[in-house]
Amino acid sequence: MQKIDQYMHEFLSELNYEPILTMSSKLQGGKKLRSKLLLKIANENETSYKICAIIELIHAASLLHDDVIDEAKLRRGVKSINAEFGAKNAIMLGDILYSKAFYELSLLDLKLAKVISNAVVKLSIGELMDVNLSETFNTNKNAYLQMIYNKTAVLIEASARSGAILAGLDEDDFAEYGKNLGLAFQIVDDLLDIQGDEQTLGKPAMNDFKEGKTTLAYMYLYEKLNPQDQAILQGYYKKDLNESEVAWIKNKMHECQIFEQVHQELNVYANNALKAIEKYNIKDLEDIIKSMIERDF
Ligand code: FPP
Ligand code: MG
Repeated sequence: MQKIDQYMHEFLSELNYEPILTMSSKLQGGKKLRSKLLLKIANENETSYKICAIIELIHAASLLHDDVIDEAKLRRGVKSINAEFGAKNAIMLGDILYSKAFYELSLLDLKLAKVISNAVVKLSIGELMDVNLSETFNTNKNAYLQMIYNKTAVLIEASARSGAILAGLDEDDFAEYGKNLGLAFQIVDDLLDIQGDEQTLGKPAMNDFKEGKTTLAYMYLYEKLNPQDQAILQGYYKKDLNESEVAWIKNKMHECQIFEQVHQELNVYANNALKAIEKYNIKDLEDIIKSMIERDF
């Protein structure tokens, strides 16, 4: 991971504008899931590290823009760039990170450039879908799944596909693994928003519903509630909830065994991911999906 950080720093230093380094030094490293995945599939060499650095820059750019869109004050346990330097700076830093990443990519390989740039188009469409779905109380599970596929799974899928291309392996098998890992990742992320706390998450808990996002657990709960309780839940939508309102939602979720239901769905994606790569017997990839589902941050 250190090699990847070095390349990211090198790429940004080449731009010779001090505010870029000042602001980007405030970005926390994160889990680097996409890089870990790519390096488990491809060989570790300078090209792989560069591709990882490029993907991490793109991911960081997308979070910079996402925090402006979500008006998020906290990211990875520290003040978001928009909170510290303002939205204008955050947007431009995102543009710089993305453009520089893409410039570096264009120097490497056309096929990888196509895979990754196509993923970024979908990523942006996914964010737009998220914004649109957050306008009203969404109960359409397919629309939610399509949105998280684009917003989150696509870049993870592209990282796995890139790793396979670099290693000369069957890219579709690994892309299928990455897609399912990505879907599971976002579903866990959405679950942790409800089950986790700010300290562990590095961002506020119970925030999605306030932002207008009816994630899987909310959709499942809505399906199971009686009409009176459905109306109560809808009344809490997009509101700053007090402790007893939060407790009402969590209790109903427990009563209706919503977390179990979401976990069943997660197991489907985990099994799809494992099945896609079973013939390769790569234990690390099996472990990544297992720990993804069990993570608490
Ligand atoms: C986080 O979602 C957001 C994403 C994974 C994707 C955001 C993508 C864009 C803003 C498109 C623009 C892309 C570039 C490269 C400039 P979330 O809000 O559910 O997660 P969070 O709780 O961690 O904020
Ligand atoms: Mg967000």
